[in-house]
Amino acid sequence: MCGIVGYVGPRDCSDVLVSALTKLEYRGYDSAGIAVFENGKIEVAKTKGRLSDLVDKMKKEGKPQGHAGIGHTRWATHGEPSDINSHPHSGRRVTIVHNGIIENYKDIKKFLIENDRTEFLSDTDTEVVAQLLDFYYDGNPIRCIRKVLHEIRGSFALGIVFADRPETVYAVRCESPLIVGQGKGEAFIASDVPAIIKYTKDYYLLEYGEIAVLKNGSVSFCDLHGRMVEKELKTADFDEDSAEKGGYEHFMIKEIHEQPTAVKTTITPRIENGMPDLSECGITPEILRSFNNIFIVACGTAMHAGMVGKYVIEKLARVSVTVDIASEFRYRDPLIGENDLVIIISQSGETADSKAVLNLVKQTKAKSLAIVNVKGSSIAREADMVIYTHAGPEIAVASTKAYMVQLSVMYLLAFEMAYAKGKITEFECRNLTEQLVKTPEYIEKAIELEYNCQYISTKLITADSLLYIGRGLDYALSMEGSLKLKEISYIHSESYAAGELKHGTISLITEGMPVIAVATQNSLLEKTVSNIKEVKARGAMTIVICDEFAEIDDDAVDFLIRIPKISEVLMPMIATVPMQLLAYYTSVNKGNDVDKPRNLAKSVTVE
Ligand code: G6P
Repeated sequence: MCGIVGYVGPRDCSDVLVSALTKLEYRGYDSAGIAVFENGKIEVAKTKGRLSDLVDKMKKEGKPQGHAGIGHTRWATHGEPSDINSHPHSGRRVTIVHNGIIENYKDIKKFLIENDRTEFLSDTDTEVVAQLLDFYYDGNPIRCIRKVLHEIRGSFALGIVFADRPETVYAVRCESPLIVGQGKGEAFIASDVPAIIKYTKDYYLLEYGEIAVLKNGSVSFCDLHGRMVEKELKTADFDEDSAEKGGYEHFMIKEIHEQPTAVKTTITPRIENGMPDLSECGITPEILRSFNNIFIVACGTAMHAGMVGKYVIEKLARVSVTVDIASEFRYRDPLIGENDLVIIISQSGETADSKAVLNLVKQTKAKSLAIVNVKGSSIAREADMVIYTHAGPEIAVASTKAYMVQLSVMYLLAFEMAYAKGKITEFECRNLTEQLVKTPEYIEKAIELEYNCQYISTKLITADSLLYIGRGLDYALSMEGSLKLKEISYIHSESYAAGELKHGTISLITEGMPVIAVATQNSLLEKTVSNIKEVKARGAMTIVICDEFAEIDDDAVDFLIRIPKISEVLMPMIATVPMQLLAYYTSVNKGNDVDKPRNLAKSVTVE
């Protein structure tokens, strides 16, 4: 939610801020703004709309000229998207950008009003913080920030400039992510590494309550008590190209194409002599044998990866797995036993509800395992064990490659656990692992179905609503297919267990309504085909995704997508590809903004 950036150095600050913000627009894109020291004075430019609207505005009205400043791209929480509610926000001598939420802003506002501070222009919680900073500012920025940190509650990261401290940027983090980049004679702040990768790969991870001071091109840090802190400089393991479209029209299609490589990079270091080996992540066979129950908790797409994980772990390792939506789990007083494992799956590693679940687990004796893509993110750092997925930066809001690598990790975990528990033989485990190693090749072939999917998507664009159906793993998978489509095409869709349709939902079927049936599980094929015929008989237009050899009666199908056949249990990794492509091309054909769908943001750091 929201992206913040800051810069101090010799370059044109406005240009750097805008360039960095383009890499953070996935975090929010309903308004944008910057504040730059120009001849010792803070100049602000901001507007409702996309970053491109800000650029247009600055072309017309002139951009702030200077070498130090802060910037913001917004996903509205308090107050509608408008020029006034756009960041930066200012008090008399302080200007800030903010990512996150200030929970007690109403109390603070009341306190400020009671103390004669009444000049609030916006509806935002951010402006209240700017005013509070101003209220306490006595010429010592660090003391003032520390004082305010003790009074505000919530999850936030702030970039701050003080009018009487020109060419200096302050930053602080509580919960919401913030990194501090160090280049040659220049320094940056950003909500995420891709924002600054064009300028430097070296960065510091700001910890909870730490304050960074960017001045004269270098950085210093202190903690909540004002003590200086030495921090470890990290180096990003990806380059600028990973955060660029590289010739593709959208990040989403680029990321779909990156999936074979992402899977290879994720699984290869975790396979030793043909067997899964998660020991580099602190996971041993003894640990895997020790769990009674598993909870998989996540949000959105990551939760859907967990659904596939449940089917696979239960089937192979014979351990009971419950999958929960994080925002539900955290409030449902779950029964977590001391020998249970809670797996938290998160691309960003910063999702507020998933983080809250981790905090909840820490109050129990259960173990937590994070499956996370972003290195050094909060969830990754705080869990007992972590398996990093190696998808590289995922920029499109609709997740594709991150889901794919989450699936690949679910398989590794299921295979190793099943073997550790003696539920499958070494031969079976080797065989499954070998099949998993082959998936990148099969995913590649599935991507070749792009033009077929592009054509079929033209049949979907006029639909008001559609259904995804499947059984078993196909049902788990169709949940993600359905989410992908609705996220970016804005067509209502639902996923349904094929066998459950006749208990109510089949009444929705009308002439020409598209039904996408996933039928990759041979053991359930006949039954799924019967369900497909049931909807077809009621007028549905059926699109069936099945393997290249599956026997499907012609009269059940309007459009057939045949995907390469691999071991049944691994079919979700292949079948997800045409679903991604159908969603992508439906969105493209509708003329939607594929990478930045309306109302959404990629990193959801608010409840
Ligand atoms: C947002 C994104 C989804 C993502 C979900 C969970 O809703 O739009 O694509 O699946 O958050 O994010 P996480 O980073 O925890 O995987």
